[in-house]
Amino acid sequence: MQTYISLAQIDEIAEKIRKQISIQPAVGLILGSGLNGLADSVQNPVHIPYNDLPNFPVSTVHGHVGRFVIGELEGKPVIVMQGRIHYYEGYTMGEVTLPVRVMHRLGVHSLFVTNAAGGVNAEFVPGDVMLITDQLNLMGMSGLNPLMGPNLDEIGPRFPDMSQPYDREYCDIARKVAASNNLTLREGVYAGLSGPSFESPADLRFLRLAGADAVGMSTVPEVIIARHGGMRALGFSGISNKANLDGSTITTHEEVIEAGKVITPKVEAIVRGVLREI
Ligand code: HPA
Repeated sequence: MQTYISLAQIDEIAEKIRKQISIQPAVGLILGSGLNGLADSVQNPVHIPYNDLPNFPVSTVHGHVGRFVIGELEGKPVIVMQGRIHYYEGYTMGEVTLPVRVMHRLGVHSLFVTNAAGGVNAEFVPGDVMLITDQLNLMGMSGLNPLMGPNLDEIGPRFPDMSQPYDREYCDIARKVAASNNLTLREGVYAGLSGPSFESPADLRFLRLAGADAVGMSTVPEVIIARHGGMRALGFSGISNKANLDGSTITTHEEVIEAGKVITPKVEAIVRGVLREI
């Protein structure tokens, strides 16, 4: 029988964090595989390892560190998740999205999410950065919506609207920032699957037909939880590999981490620029 996370559990964690920090974070950042660099540039950082927090899930994936970094970026108070939790690690959807609940209770009003993703759009190449304009909740369609279970009425409604998962004003700011940095910013729909196996050629043909431009194993649950609480969301996919629709090449975690090195500076420039503008 699945147990669900209560508001009291969320608040216990938020309180423990609040006691260790002197700023009020306004923007939450979740950094994806190989994209952790930005957390190291946070100024006046306070580091809180996930395993110091009660009932907090710990990231088990190679390339993920596993701590909150709280401080300032571009003068804005931020809380950065250096290492995210994925459903495929064996956690419940409630645990996967607990960090976003905690951020919300800490007063965070906006969530910026980055991830590594496979490029489904034929025009995308490894190293590209895609602004996520919408998402395909394939996990939810398979019965894995993070809002299942008792609704936390204090946070949001039972049936939250999802007509604008990614904030349009933030998307516009991101486009302008990318242009002023001479960075090509792709755009499209991110499809969230549970993983951990990569997609078969038939999966990928299905995703392309369904309108996906990129595919990955995260982000969608976190953004649903953010929107449930009325947080504004902004997301970027670093395209680490090309989807292999005909089965002629293989996909590895190592290439995902390697591509992150090219992608990180681009995402960093855009995220910094958006932080300056909001
Ligand atoms: N598929 C799913 N997740 C991913 C991929 C992919 O090809 N690349 C990086 N994360």
